[in-house]
Amino acid sequence: MTTIKFPITYQSIELPSYNPNIIRAMLGLKVVEKIITQLPKDQLLIKMQAASCNPSDIAFIQGGYNIYKPLPCVPGFEGTGIIVEVGEALDRVEWLGKRVSCFTQENGDGTWAEYLVSPTDQIIQVDDTLTIDQAACFFINPFTAFGLFEIAQQHACEAIIINAAGSRVADFLFAMAKKHGIKAIGIVRKQQTLETLLQKGFDAVILSTDESFEANLKTVLQSFESCVAYDAVAGEQTGQIANCLPANSEIVVYGGLSGQPVSGINPMQLIFKNIIVSGFNLNQWMEYTDIEAFNKVKNSLTAMITSGEVQIPINISVKIHDVVKGMRQYLGSMSEGKMLIHF
Ligand SMILES: NC(=O)c1ccc[n+]([C@@H]2O[C@H](COP(=O)([O-])OP(=O)(O)OC[C@H]3O[C@@H](n4cnc5c(N)ncnc54)[C@H](OP(=O)(O)O)[C@@H]3O)[C@@H](O)[C@H]2O)c1
Repeated sequence: MTTIKFPITYQSIELPSYNPNIIRAMLGLKVVEKIITQLPKDQLLIKMQAASCNPSDIAFIQGGYNIYKPLPCVPGFEGTGIIVEVGEALDRVEWLGKRVSCFTQENGDGTWAEYLVSPTDQIIQVDDTLTIDQAACFFINPFTAFGLFEIAQQHACEAIIINAAGSRVADFLFAMAKKHGIKAIGIVRKQQTLETLLQKGFDAVILSTDESFEANLKTVLQSFESCVAYDAVAGEQTGQIANCLPANSEIVVYGGLSGQPVSGINPMQLIFKNIIVSGFNLNQWMEYTDIEAFNKVKNSLTAMITSGEVQIPINISVKIHDVVKGMRQYLGSMSEGKMLIHF
């Protein structure tokens, strides 16, 4: 591996300001040249190969996420690359040349750049069998689905309900449910996604845009004693789902795609049916998962992907100058697959 000589200059996407209007937020993004003069002694330098665009990136540039960085900044929470330089306090043999997936939510620059400076606790080494595309999307959604699915296992429930069911998190939840003999019920907003999911093997799929959405959901759920519902949409949909759940079920809110506050939960459901409303986030799950357990999860998720049990579909691949074009396309076709920036 060639030795890196500092300073290095490289291209990145820069977010100059947050804007709740998604079109304006995207149009504000620009490609800038940046410079790294030296590598802090406890950090790694990663030559990025690809970075993903997730709903959290969209919410972040709108200023609608839980993380606000000093501006301007480089967006991007996830990606993959190769460690090309190692801070002097770290073990070169352990890190240099390793392929990694990154998950960075700290104040520094994100993954939408040719280089990323990262601490060791925000990367995982990835198996050589994972392609660049799969490795670029490996850290956030597969681990989130695993953490979410643990809740269903704790409940020993008969069925899970997943809204925004055309998503990548949903792909993994569905695969895990199938493996464990748990029924999977999807909720989507488009007829085309409904048909795709039925073909995949979902036990039932319900259209949230249908006038009789709640009645249809109740009908499907009446044959189950307890369920876990995974809610990535929030807004009124949380209430609609919570109000249809059988007693002793739980609804886990893990996304806010509607951009609306959770609403409409009938208090009688909570009081007399013991419905639990909870939240989930990956960072917190990682905090209470020890390294040994984490590595087991990593290996099992890698095996799910490399065996073809689940593949993360990549719908859009762009170079750095076409990020805005790619994002527009992604926003119109999210269920069809991820958008990646290739460097
Ligand atoms: N809490 C955590 O730690 C954590 C971690 C990872 C992901 N997440 C959340 O998990 C969710 C899925 O992420 P992903 O990366 O798997 O998604 P993705 O693959 O990019 O797909 C997004 C899905 O959401 C649907 N969708 C978008 N806006 C919607 C709306 N307003 N109402 C209903 N459906 C909508 C899309 O359907 P269409 O095709 O119909 O647009 C698509 O199926 C997101 O909310 C994300 O923020 C949370």
